[in-house]
Amino acid sequence: MEVKPVVPTHLGIIMDGNGRWAQKRALPRTAGHLEGLKALKKVIKEASVQGIGFVTFYVFSTENWKRSEQEVSYLMSLLVSKLHGELSFYNQYGIRILFRGDLEGLPKDVQKVINDTVTSTQNNSKISCILAINYGGRNEICRAVHRCLDEDPAYNITEEAIASHLDLPQVPPVDMIVRSANEKRLSNFLLWDSAYAEFGFYEKLWPDWNGEDVKQICFDFSQRVRKYGGVQ
Ligand code: IPE
Ligand code: IPE
Ligand code: MG
Repeated sequence: MEVKPVVPTHLGIIMDGNGRWAQKRALPRTAGHLEGLKALKKVIKEASVQGIGFVTFYVFSTENWKRSEQEVSYLMSLLVSKLHGELSFYNQYGIRILFRGDLEGLPKDVQKVINDTVTSTQNNSKISCILAINYGGRNEICRAVHRCLDEDPAYNITEEAIASHLDLPQVPPVDMIVRSANEKRLSNFLLWDSAYAEFGFYEKLWPDWNGEDVKQICFDFSQRVRKYGGVQ
């Protein structure tokens, strides 16, 4: 049976192009990341208005450690200085912050700010803003398998077993994954969940995104017909 989508319940966003945005303006790459944060706030606000339940933002991949020490430490310090400081913004728009990724691989101060922010926003219920930090799809699947085996060395590793041991098993699988900056790849994002996701690739660089882009994504999604292997 055809399932006609309205807005995605869960939208995944690969925020790309911060460096190019800065480069175009002869600014350091870090300036692009700071501007990208402003775009994230505009996007989550409009996603909430549109009635999207969950938005996962790809903030930092397990491969992003390859970048210069200066860029990595800037990104980590941005998390520490900005994440918890936005509490009144989260509360105003009913935003619950969730974390997805390998927490233990992050610096202790980043772990603390993430845990504090998740706890402080746990009663907000309009929209969940999931931050994928030190996140890799392969890494998440491996950790899910390890969780099963830690529970029982003879655990029967079925699809359901893996799905129920991912980082946020209560969050529905992603319905649509979008990427900015005209790159057309997943870069290790939500590999398990993306099995039946719709995809959207957009030219604009991430720091230039705003609420209008969310409206466009919702429109594009509404045009898709999802069949899940069945017949329309
Ligand atoms: C995305 O922008 C932000 C992160 C991956 C942390 P980039 O920093 O990848 O920007 P480009 O791709 O170099 O333009
Ligand atoms: C993907 O962007 C990771 C994030 C958006 C956090 P990258 O810019 O790191 O991806 P590649 O290297 O172009 O594939
Ligand atoms: Mg990039």
